[in-house]
Parts: sequence; C-alpha cells; structure tokens
Amino acid sequence: MDKFYHVTTYGCQMNVHESEKIAGILSELGYKSCERIEDADIAVFNTCCIRENAENHAFGNIGMLKKLKAAKRDMIIAVGGCLTQQMGKAENLREKFPFVDIIFGTHNLGKLKDYISKKQSDKKAVIEILDDDGKVYEERKALRTSYPNAWVNITYGCNNFCTYCIVPYVRGRERSRRSEDILKECRELIALGYKEITLLGQNVNSYANGTDDLTFPELLNKIASIEGKFRLRFMTSHPKDFSEELVKVIAVNPKICKCVHLPVQSGSDSVLKAMNRRYTSAEYLKKVEVLKKYVPDCAITTDLIVGFPNETDEDFNATLNLVKTVGFSSAFSFVYSKRDGTVAAKMDGQVPTAVSKARIMELIALVNAQTRAQSEKYVGKTVEVLCEDYDAKKGLYLGRDEYGRMAYFKSEKDVTGEFLNIFVESANGISLTGKIV
Ligand code: SAH
Ligand code: SF4
Ligand code: F3S
Repeated sequence: MDKFYHVTTYGCQMNVHESEKIAGILSELGYKSCERIEDADIAVFNTCCIRENAENHAFGNIGMLKKLKAAKRDMIIAVGGCLTQQMGKAENLREKFPFVDIIFGTHNLGKLKDYISKKQSDKKAVIEILDDDGKVYEERKALRTSYPNAWVNITYGCNNFCTYCIVPYVRGRERSRRSEDILKECRELIALGYKEITLLGQNVNSYANGTDDLTFPELLNKIASIEGKFRLRFMTSHPKDFSEELVKVIAVNPKICKCVHLPVQSGSDSVLKAMNRRYTSAEYLKKVEVLKKYVPDCAITTDLIVGFPNETDEDFNATLNLVKTVGFSSAFSFVYSKRDGTVAAKMDGQVPTAVSKARIMELIALVNAQTRAQSEKYVGKTVEVLCEDYDAKKGLYLGRDEYGRMAYFKSEKDVTGEFLNIFVESANGISLTGKIV
C-alpha cells in the first residue's frame, strides 16, 4: 500500500529548499507526497522563529493535529527547523504536544531517516537537537517542487549577529559550499531544463571568505557562463559586503537578473548602529548609487524593521526618507519582534505596540504607493516573462520578469517554464496583467 508524506514549511526560501531536502529523504524511504495533511502517514513541520508570529503559527498548526493523531495512531508527526533549534523550544514543544513523535533541529536533518526507523522500532518519541558542527553536507538531495526555478545553497548559517536576529543562533556559523559542487549542481539543473537558479545564503556576498578559489562575483560569473537560456538570481545581500565588483558582474551578464534584494532595515544611523548592521544610511545610499550607475534599470528591493528598541519618530522619519530616496521596487516591512537570546532582547526602551503599528501602516502605505507607481509604468510595454505556474482561481498563468515583477496572462496550452513576451494591459498594485504577443 502507498505511504504518504506531507511537509508544512514556515519561514524563508532557505527553509523552502530545506523542505525539498526533507521531501528527498522521505521519497527515498518510499513515501509519496500528498496534498492534504489528513492523508499523510508522516507529517513534517519545518518551522521558523524569525518573529513571534512565525512561531505562533507553527505552534497553532501542530496543536491542531492532536485530534488527527488520536484517530490515526500510526501517523508519525515530526517537527524540525529553526524553532526547535532555539534554546529550550524542543522541550517546550514536547511538553505542549506530547503526541509529536520526532523533534529534530537545523543541523541534523540528514538523520531524519534514522529517527523514523527508531520511532517505528522503539515506539518512543525521538528528540535530538545537535549543535552546529561547521560542516557542509553534500549528500542531502532535494526533491524539487519549484520548477522552473531551482534553489541552490551557497552558504549556510550567519556570522553577522544583527542584534535583533535569531538566525545566527539557530543556523550556526557561516560556512560555504565548495564552488565546484555549486557549479556541478547548477550545470545539472540547466541540463534538466530548469530556467532559473536562485542562489541562497544569509549573506551571499561573504561567500567563502577566502576558503574557496572563487569569490562571490567570480562564482556568479562562472555560473552565468553555463550554456543555455536561464536566469540567475541570488539572495540575500548584506549591504556591508555588497561590492562594486559584484555590481560590474551584474551589469555585464544578461543572465543575471537586474534585481537586487538589499535589506537596509532602517534609515536611522543610531538605529543601524544599535542593530549592529555595520553601515550608515549614507554608506547604504552610496552602494545604491554605484548600483544605479552601472545597472541603471536595476530593481532594488529591501527589508525594513520598525519599532526597534528606542526608535524615535525622528529615526522612523529617516527610514521613510531613505525609502523615498532609493525608490524601492518593493519591500518587506516588519514590526520588530523580541527574540530571546539576542542582544536587543535585553535592551531597554521597547517601543509600545500602538506606536509600532502606526509606523508600520505608514511605511507600508508609502512602499505600496511606490510599488504601484512603478507597476503603472509597465502598462503599454512588452516584457519578457518566465512562466512559473497556473493560478487555478484566476484561470491565468503567471510569471515574472527579470526585475521580479509578477504578470498574469491567458494561455490555451501549458506554458510553465517558457520564456514569453507579454504585452502589459493593466497594472494592479504589485502585479501586472497582459497577453502573450
Ligand atoms: N540574512 C538576511 C535576512 C534574514 S531574515 C539579511 O540579513 O538581510 C529576513 C528579515 O527578517 C530581515 O532582513 C529582517 O528585516 C527581518 N527580521 C529579522 N529578525 C527580526 C526580528 N527580530 N523582528 C522583526 N523582523 C526581523
Ligand atoms: Fe540575521 Fe543579520 Fe544574519 Fe541577516 S545578516 S541573518 S539579519 S544576523
Ligand atoms: Fe529562515 Fe526563519 Fe530560520 S527566516 S533561517 S526559517 S528563523
């Protein structure tokens, strides 16, 4: 009889790709994927703890499985990812949800197979959270689900210790894959017909840090010179390591998308300092200027945090001003969320929720207005889009141009994975609608 798995993913693209690796392990064990968690023989939750709401979301969804598990006693429930790796959280989960069978962390995903067989033979819960061993595991093969895009890790972990951020604590120290392994994976993906590769790392610009023959710009150049028509993206770039050399590589390689995610977090120098971001707003703007000089039409996107401890109205206004100066194509705006164990969690001067809420609304309104204005400039133009998927609700296919702008369009046949020219007829906020020409 067929056995089924279901993986629920929270958090960033890195976690999405990690879930593809979990799927790889489960399919090797003979499990097949299923849409509904109710049909699963094994349900895995790949969690995130970047902000409190990510955590609550996971806790809520795991809690909802209590009834299902009572009715389906042989079902295995496994929880892994950043949340379980956070100090004390595995025990916490165990106490709250005694029906969970397996709890693992971010460093031992490769042992999931052993945990499953242990659970099946001993009938006891398996809980193991390991410390970062500084290694890169090449044998964790992904069962990819995001055709025509493929995610490719280049670094794991983070050394930056921004004072608000939990990632360095739950993902360990930064380590890089060998460039030859990355290149081999990219070549294979292109040969398999993938049309877009997105390189992943918390800070791709610090790739290898001297431990490989290639720097990040050199690696990008090499990947971009693989034969075939495909797009190359990367995320995330930390502004402090975003170099002119990299900008020049983007400028001369048509396969590298003119779209850079460059999280600024705040426009206030005192907040940036307290965040330990290691750049000033002027330094950030200088990097943007260099980028615009070499790649004038480059789309720049960012992440912003409001309500960091001691953020004043003046600090917040500096963020609004910076957003206006850069003219981001889009931005993710977050309310600061206190994360236990980080430096900022111990800071005095937490900003009242009502103040943070008002600030985030104002910021989102500004960002959305900018995004809308940029979208409107597309109307009447033709853009090249890589078709990614079919939206059954809308009855339309969707794809993205190299700047990351989403477009919807009709097609009689399945065009997923094809590059198409779309004449843009209308813009609705962040997305465009048009027709194939
Ligand atoms: N490595 C990437 C981002 C990883 S987390 C970088 O440095 O740019 C993605 C985003 O989540 C961050 O850019 C930040 O804006 C936000 N974030 C991280 N910790 C947060 C916290 N404690 N509260 C609110 N937002 C946070
Ligand atoms: Fe977190 Fe900063 Fe590392 Fe990004 S660079 S993951 S925000 S510590
Ligand atoms: Fe990503 Fe969340 Fe972990 S954003 S690195 S899954 S804490």
